[in-house]
Amino acid sequence: MALIRQESIDTVIEASDMLELVAPYTTLKKVGGGYMGRCPFHSEKDPSFSIDTVKKVYYCFSCGAKGNVVNFVMEKEGLDFPDAIKSMAERYGVKLQYEESSPEEEERRRRRERSYSLLDQAASYYARVLRESAAAAAAREYLAERGFKTEVIDEFRLGFSPAGGRDLLTKAAAKGYSEDELLAAGLLRERDGRRYDYFRGRLMFPFTDHRGRVLGFGARVLGDGKPKYLNSPDSDVYHKKYLLFGLGNARQASTREDRVYIVEGYTDVLALHQVGIANVVASMGTALTESQLKEVSRYTKNVYLALDADAAGRQAMLRALDVSKKLDLTIRLVQMPGGSDPADLVLAEGGAERFRELAAEALALLEYQVHETLASADLDTADGKFRALEALKPILAGAVNAVERDEQSRIIADRLRLSPENMAYLLKPAAKVEGTVGEGGTQRRVLSQEEIAERSFLSICLANPGEAGRYLQDMTEAHFTTEPNRSAFHWIKGKLGGTGNGTVIDASSMAAAGGGVESILPELLIRSETEANSPEALPELFMKLNVAELSRRIENLKSRLNSEEEPADFHELARLEERRRRIIEHLHSTHQGSI
Ligand code: UTP
Ligand code: MN
Repeated sequence: MALIRQESIDTVIEASDMLELVAPYTTLKKVGGGYMGRCPFHSEKDPSFSIDTVKKVYYCFSCGAKGNVVNFVMEKEGLDFPDAIKSMAERYGVKLQYEESSPEEEERRRRRERSYSLLDQAASYYARVLRESAAAAAAREYLAERGFKTEVIDEFRLGFSPAGGRDLLTKAAAKGYSEDELLAAGLLRERDGRRYDYFRGRLMFPFTDHRGRVLGFGARVLGDGKPKYLNSPDSDVYHKKYLLFGLGNARQASTREDRVYIVEGYTDVLALHQVGIANVVASMGTALTESQLKEVSRYTKNVYLALDADAAGRQAMLRALDVSKKLDLTIRLVQMPGGSDPADLVLAEGGAERFRELAAEALALLEYQVHETLASADLDTADGKFRALEALKPILAGAVNAVERDEQSRIIADRLRLSPENMAYLLKPAAKVEGTVGEGGTQRRVLSQEEIAERSFLSICLANPGEAGRYLQDMTEAHFTTEPNRSAFHWIKGKLGGTGNGTVIDASSMAAAGGGVESILPELLIRSETEANSPEALPELFMKLNVAELSRRIENLKSRLNSEEEPADFHELARLEERRRRIIEHLHSTHQGSI
């Protein structure tokens, strides 16, 4: 990039009118030799922002913002130094001189400049065809039918490309542009040795950069043909992944409102402009790139995604999350009512108001993910809660903003009815969870009825440490059918057993538990806070576990009745069956419980 000569920079500053450049951002009053107004860099009631229109510098006595007229343009319009100088040069009619550069560089620059002016003239030509040509009558009708007004059509320089195939080519040739130049600018197509206009018979949406230069076109078919939009091929000046449609028209409003809306379609941008919402750009379809977000981050850190309410739009939102962390952006989602895009919405009666309401209700991305996960979870069962927590864990872990994360953790704890301490423990990434890793992540094993009863019992023990001790005392690991349940039993018994009054088991002591116990503690904890867990349930479950344990022993004896080596003891069998009968009877009389 060729350097602008210092003399040119000085000339631009000399030619500029600081009062005029500052005026759009604050109201200035003459005070002494300069002007004062409310500071455009921070919000305040009393004016402490001063400018010196002779020296062309500004200073805020309150926030300390200071600089010269170029710095002001850079800050307020989100431009780097050369771009600020170029934009001021254009505004004040200064022709810029560049430092000498290599002949190759000069040649490249000259070719790019030719492309820019060719594309600009093409846009003017298409716009004139749309306004005047009989061939564009259907296009004009189409725009009118969709509700687009002349002002917005002119502001975005919409046009129409004639269907003939050589119209632009002929015009450009008359102005001295070669076919190769048209090809390089993406305006010419070559097939079977024949060259003809790239765009034919389509409604033209010029792509412009942040300075308003035309880089290429998106061209919509009238009616239902395919493709719906034909876009310029990438060229020396147009690179799809960097472009945000409408950025030049959205820049000032985005800085002023400190917010930008990103929509999917060109027509969404037009429609929002038409109803007075100017801080809007289109992502050119759903694939929002990092480069595009970087572009907008120069103007504001507050990005509102208003994407079509479909799966592709949802996908794009989640992708934006990753990028937002790097760029320090706050991304919010404006939730479009099902099936409609922003253009449909705002062009309908009262649409602008409705859009503003939806924007006010926009969810932060993290909030949105949590909201979606909770909405699709079954929070009435311990198992459902458990699954929801598993899904939420990585989402919260990915959160950048600690305040937002804590707030969402509280919301989750509330919805899952878990204490904040237990939530904190459950969300620890280290709390490994029982399960086998299969396709698509961790798969939970289906638990047998016995196992579920055992876990319910253990979780009620956790919830009622005072009562649990005496039951645990009378139990052995034979009461539990799986390894995790047995280790949990040992651990809990060690903590509570025999003490009579019991110690409360808290999250930190659980985190310290080893020996495989930690794999099921999260679940026990959720069960203990979810299921009916009053101490009255303890004796019943205790008896059920005893019955189950007796049944297992009885089955074992029966299978050995005819065994030669280790014949079963008949008396023993009778004794166990009698004991089981008594417990079941007792269960029926006291709890009408079924086994
Ligand atoms: P949409 O299909 O939603 O189109 O594509 P739209 O912009 O809302 O247009 P209308 O209102 O139906 O006329 C959204 C965006 O996806 C890109 C364009 O950027 C379009 O604005 N797109 C879509 C293409 O580039 N090519 C296509 O064929 C379709
Ligand atoms: Mn759309």
